[in-house]
Amino acid sequence: MVVTRKINALLSVLDLCIVNKSILYDWQTGETGEDTQELRLPDGAAEYLVIDNPRLRELRERYAEFQARASVPIVWTDEYVQSYGLQSFRGDNCYVWQTKDPNCDEINYCLTAYYAQAIDRLGVLQNNSEDGLFGVHTYPISSRDFSRDILDSTAELNFLEKHLNLSSRENLQILDIGAGYGRLAHRTASTLSNLSTYFCTDAVPESTFLSEYHIKFRNLKDRVTVVPLDEIEECIRQQDIDLAVNIHSFSECSLEAIEWWLALLAAGKVRNLFIVPNSSDHGGERLALNSGEDFSALVEKYGYILKIKAPKYEDPLVQKFGVSPTWYYLYQLDD
Ligand SMILES: C[S@@+](CC[C@H](N)C(=O)[O-])C[C@H]1O[C@@H](n2cnc3c(N)ncnc32)[C@H](O)[C@@H]1O
Repeated sequence: MVVTRKINALLSVLDLCIVNKSILYDWQTGETGEDTQELRLPDGAAEYLVIDNPRLRELRERYAEFQARASVPIVWTDEYVQSYGLQSFRGDNCYVWQTKDPNCDEINYCLTAYYAQAIDRLGVLQNNSEDGLFGVHTYPISSRDFSRDILDSTAELNFLEKHLNLSSRENLQILDIGAGYGRLAHRTASTLSNLSTYFCTDAVPESTFLSEYHIKFRNLKDRVTVVPLDEIEECIRQQDIDLAVNIHSFSECSLEAIEWWLALLAAGKVRNLFIVPNSSDHGGERLALNSGEDFSALVEKYGYILKIKAPKYEDPLVQKFGVSPTWYYLYQLDD
């Protein structure tokens, strides 16, 4: 004991300590073996999801020409985008971290899955399943498969239902800025029968390409529209959008890009704006870029007033141990 205490005192400068192996779970000792996530693809995906697909080439050219301030990158450089394979777009990559974010071990997934089932008044889980395609990490819990895709979508949609009564709005129109591969579009369209249109947009051509493919694959083209960056201004002007969402995207954007989007939303009188920053220190309470810089003043500059700020998980213990805890920010345009 004395020896352990002495060694730990020395190791503490390195943020390390020794403990008895018997009190650790196997995932904590690194003895669970290699991560052998299987890549399962539907027919045609391997041929279509390739870097030299003509549609992707066209989007790249259009986005390069458009040169909007929306595209000024800080995280999403070409190198970053090309670091993952298109075919495993639902895998543990830049779209949805599944093993790298805080609390991403199986015990955390288990807690979060039971929490999701307890709070899901909207029926997201009832209307969505996890098919394990495109490299997503899945966890068998409570007789079904869970993923971070389905868990985050359940938490987000139930939060929006609680504060905006999403399911009772007529002809609901939602705009997703930085929609990734269309994760929330897929889950929303499968849950809300009152959804008129869910618009997905993005400043990264690969993301637009993937969401177009994914939405078509899910047979949701009648209610989800993927809008390329160079058409988004016109779209916002013409549509009556109730809610804009930005999930784990502004945190990875430059201030110029965020300002470009905010100006568009304010000009289009988009009333509600839901922002989810990245979870750095278990969801530190600031609306911040990955660099730590607070951008809430920028949001307010465009007339958006913070109505609700809430932890992703209402239960403090789940906020401490749940998968990827962060904070939800709901803004409303000043009348
Ligand atoms: C971490 S992913 C999150 C994807 C999706 N919102 C989700 O939660 O599943 C970040 C997204 O922001 C997008 N993005 C990056 N830079 C952007 C910019 N300047 N404007 C809009 N979206 C951007 C990326 O293409 C990507 O789709």
